[in-house]
Amino acid sequence: MKTVIISNRLPVKIIEENDEYTFIPSEGGLATGLGDVYKTGNAIWVGWPGIEVPLERQEEVKQKLAQLNLYPVFLTQNEINLYYEGFSNEVLWPVFHYLVTYAHYEQSYWDCYKSVNEKFAKSAMQVLNHRDKIWIQDYQLLLLPGILRQKLISATIGFFQHIPFPSYEIFRLIPWREEILNGLIGADLIGFHTYDDVRHFLSTATRLLPIHSSSNILSSNERQIVVEAFPMGIDFEKFSNLAQTHEVKKEMDYFRSGKDEVKIILSIDRLDYSKGILERLKALELLLQMHPEYIGKVALFMIVVPSRDTVQQYSDLRDQIDQFVGNLNARYRSMDWIPVNYFYRSFPIEMLSALYSSADICLVTPMRDGMNLVSKEYVASRNNEDGVLILSEMAGASKELTDALLVNPNNLGDIMEAIVVALQMPLEEQQRRMIAMRAIVEKFNVKHWVNNFILRLNEVKDSQKSLLT
Ligand code: UDP
Ligand code: G6P
Repeated sequence: MKTVIISNRLPVKIIEENDEYTFIPSEGGLATGLGDVYKTGNAIWVGWPGIEVPLERQEEVKQKLAQLNLYPVFLTQNEINLYYEGFSNEVLWPVFHYLVTYAHYEQSYWDCYKSVNEKFAKSAMQVLNHRDKIWIQDYQLLLLPGILRQKLISATIGFFQHIPFPSYEIFRLIPWREEILNGLIGADLIGFHTYDDVRHFLSTATRLLPIHSSSNILSSNERQIVVEAFPMGIDFEKFSNLAQTHEVKKEMDYFRSGKDEVKIILSIDRLDYSKGILERLKALELLLQMHPEYIGKVALFMIVVPSRDTVQQYSDLRDQIDQFVGNLNARYRSMDWIPVNYFYRSFPIEMLSALYSSADICLVTPMRDGMNLVSKEYVASRNNEDGVLILSEMAGASKELTDALLVNPNNLGDIMEAIVVALQMPLEEQQRRMIAMRAIVEKFNVKHWVNNFILRLNEVKDSQKSLLT
């Protein structure tokens, strides 16, 4: 009996160079969080390898991925455009992150979303045995629990959503809202990062569907569906150990050299309007205006990982960031200092670890975020127990990391003041806060998250069986 994980994106993606395919790790919390743990259990992961693979090369890709216990779902360019960029990232992503004016409710997106969810079901059926546990991940596959339930009536199906679930008033804007909910309730256990997401989902489901709930259990056609919060963790040990390796220490020395007088502020995100990147830059500008004493004394290292740049709003955001950074740097820089060191690329984990370990402040200010693993990775990397995390109240992680400096990301003055407090925070206070946060990140790590979810899934299934007998 194995676990079959199904997500839109596999934990590795194909890069094509001179007709050669190489596989590199995918970015994003889902892939980085689950990417290692799935290897330790008896699991297979079904998903898309990130590019359109021509028919004649699909067998080669399948074989290479099989060595990693991965099973590909091949998407055509049209499906990438309509299902992935279209419905997933121009409807569900903005609406679930409360940016409803960014949504494009195109019928063709929805039709393709349905057919690609069917396609995932077909691929999953190739590797599924009837006793396997099925664990579906994230908003790209909301219909999949329902489709698989029809094919495998008594299957054990878990679903976890990595992004927020919005309130009823927001969700009900989606033209295909009932179909989406009906798809989701094909699962036995539905998990979200926070209790607020659970509440929103329960109230939305009971208002839009003819079902009722008692506490966190939905009842539909004799079936019971349990809805619970499972805040996702990270591999604490990996980040903590990595920061002590020779390679990372070398990178740190190199990075910090010549910067003794400068406080480093770090920000790391995928390119996304939900991450509050422009607002963060505006807060830095405000700091330099209101506190000129920090000119030349602080530097922001801002890593933006390319993401979904074929979607208009993402490429527009990229242009806006380019412009803002250029403008700010041109106005404030001196011969030997610039306020924003901006990188539009991804980095290997050793370099990320060196940056986490070197930064005096980590500035994480999403407008909305399901969890935000970057904030936890910073905490896990701080073996000296110093450093300050500034964290948006709108990130799921803020429910656990209450010893961060919590800010409202819409309030630029609030962010700026938090930066000043962080810059001036005595070491003892940094340590008190960091020790408390490290204990939480260490205890509620990603293994704990996986075990908890799977354990609960088993319990839910067992209690369903005992109800039937
Ligand atoms: N990340 C990465 N390469 C990079 C920068 C970041 O793989 O160059 C990872 C980072 O370590 C983290 C993930 O991307 O694990 C981002 O996850 P998060 O939950 O913060 O946000 P998401 O991208 O899932 O919205
Ligand atoms: C977030 C989503 C994931 C997604 C990741 C990267 O973490 O929750 O489902 O995989 O972003 O985005 P991408 O569109 O590149 O898969």
